[in-house]
Amino acid sequence: MQIHIVADAAEGAEVVADVFARTLQEAGDSGAVLGLATGSSPVPAYTELIRRHREEGLSFAGSRAFLLDEYVGLPADHEQSYHRFIRENFTAHIDIDDAAVLSPDGATSDPVAEAASYDRRIREAGGVDLQILGIGSNGHIAFNEPGSSLASRTRVVGLTRSTIEDNARYFSSPSEVPVRALSQGLGTILEARRIVLTASGAGKAAAVAQLAEGAISARWPATALQMHPDVVVVVDEAAASRLE
Ligand code: F6R
Repeated sequence: MQIHIVADAAEGAEVVADVFARTLQEAGDSGAVLGLATGSSPVPAYTELIRRHREEGLSFAGSRAFLLDEYVGLPADHEQSYHRFIRENFTAHIDIDDAAVLSPDGATSDPVAEAASYDRRIREAGGVDLQILGIGSNGHIAFNEPGSSLASRTRVVGLTRSTIEDNARYFSSPSEVPVRALSQGLGTILEARRIVLTASGAGKAAAVAQLAEGAISARWPATALQMHPDVVVVVDEAAASRLE
C-alpha cells in the first residue's frame, strides 16, 4: 500500500488523476474498465479528470465503468441515485459512452438476482482495471459495513444507522434515505487490478489508521485492502493524523 499525504484537495486530485491517466494509457485504444465511487471524496479528482479531458485531451474513449453501489428503490434517473450522481459529477463531461456506465439497478423487482448479474457483468467486461474508493468514518468501503465478510460479493445490504445519518444530508429528511443498497462486496472490490482510495478530514482519521495499520478484520472492512498488491491511498493531513 502506497500512502500519499497531500496538502490540500487540489494536490490530492492531481495524485488520483495521475493514477487514472496511467491506467488509461496502459489500456490503450480499447479503453479501461473503471470502477467508480460516489460521495464527496472522489469529486475533486473527477473535476480534475474533466479538466484534463477538456484542456489536455485525456481520453476515456472505449472505456467502460461500473459503479460501486446503488440504493435499492431508486431508479437510475432519481435525483439522489448514485447513477445520476456519477453522470452529473463525472461521466457526462468526458468522452465515455453513456451506455457504458453501469450501476446495479436499484429499481429492480429482484435485487438478489440483480446482484449476481452485476458481478457477472463485471467479469464479462474482463474485470476492473482501476477502482476508486472513498472510506466511511466506520471503515466501510462501498456499502460494506463493519461485519461484512472479507470475501463478500455484490449483494443486498442494510445500511447502518450511522451511514443513513451521514447520507441524510443529501435528502430532505433522514426518513427518505433508503435503508438498503446493492453494493459490490469486499471480494468483488479486491478483484480490481488497481485501487486508489481517497479521504480527507479528521472524521476519517481513525478509519485511515485502521486501513493502513490495523489488523485485517471485518470490524474495519477497509483493512481488506491490505491484502491487495496495488493500492494507492491519498489522504490530507487531517485524515492522516492518526497514522503512527
Ligand atoms: C460511495 C460509497 C461510500 C463512500 C463513503 C465515503 O459510492 O460507496 O462507501 O465512499 O461513504 O463517503 P464520502 O466520500 O461522502 O465521505
